[in-house]
Amino acid sequence: MKKVDNEVIVTEELSKRYSEIWAIKDLSLRVFSGEIFGFLGPNGAGKTTTIRILTTLTKPTSGCAWVNGFNVLEKPEKVRESIGVMQQHLSLDRDLTVRENMELRARLHHFEASERKRRIEELLDYVGLSEYADRSIEMLSGGLQRRAMVACSLIHKPKILFLDEPTVGLDAHTRRRMWDLIRRLNADGVTIFLTTHYIEEAEALCHRVGIIHLGQLIALGEPSELRRKMGLYTVVTVVENGNTFYKYFSGRDIATEYIKSLPSNVKAILVRESNLEDVFIELTGRGVSED
Ligand SMILES: Nc1ncnc2c1ncn2[C@@H]1O[C@H](COP(=O)(O)OP(=O)(O)OP(=O)(O)O)[C@@H](O)[C@H]1O
Ligand SMILES: [Mg+2]
Repeated sequence: MKKVDNEVIVTEELSKRYSEIWAIKDLSLRVFSGEIFGFLGPNGAGKTTTIRILTTLTKPTSGCAWVNGFNVLEKPEKVRESIGVMQQHLSLDRDLTVRENMELRARLHHFEASERKRRIEELLDYVGLSEYADRSIEMLSGGLQRRAMVACSLIHKPKILFLDEPTVGLDAHTRRRMWDLIRRLNADGVTIFLTTHYIEEAEALCHRVGIIHLGQLIALGEPSELRRKMGLYTVVTVVENGNTFYKYFSGRDIATEYIKSLPSNVKAILVRESNLEDVFIELTGRGVSED
């Protein structure tokens, strides 16, 4: 049993190789109780692989991980008891209703009939699905399907919830409702580990963010801290041939001084506050959503 203060997820040099590809390489990170932790990275970065190891669905090639104090290799059943998982792809039975899917999960966790019924009604209400409880999953919109997946993953009151791309493909309004649900869960004491490739999601929702790129952790911290490290202000310069350059500064004054030093033939100049996307581009030389 490994538990240091309130660290509820610990990974040490966690690596996973699929033939020639290192899906993740030497990943060391900590997630603290009560956090919403965001794992941000582009397609193929290694986000799902990390979640699959932490939720005991696959084994690492090397390195170790502990979830809620339990080693994922030595005590996988203990890990599973204390976590909920919402996978990246629809993991519910499409032909069954929301209630029936929840009923199935509750039986898997050996709830008695009366407790099952109470818990399911409580959760349906919590995620705002009471009126859709008797609709089959395939008749629901993408947003409601995801709510149903969250409800199923919460049946056994897990302390940590893993959400793999909880809002991918959802419209802006539905995405924000999902954010509200995640925030409410977190306020009710659930630690959240989520993956996303939406920078604004990480910035809006997460207390701390880990940026993963080509299987490696390239930044870790609060979004504001990452921006501060790079420079809180960005000067965007567009030159004659249309190429755009970015430079980062700790203060607006220094940024303004820099602008004064630019040659007069630049086409456009803009000073703005830096964001997480700037951090990502600065660290990797590419945008987070690019394939
Ligand atoms: N079962 C597997 N067999 C072979 N290669 C795999 C397997 N699972 C993942 N990979 C490879 O490992 C790398 C990381 O994949 P992973 O699914 O963890 O990325 P991801 O960040 O979740 O991407 P996405 O945003 O597309 O979901 C990719 O190069 C992927 O092709
Ligand atoms: Mg994935």
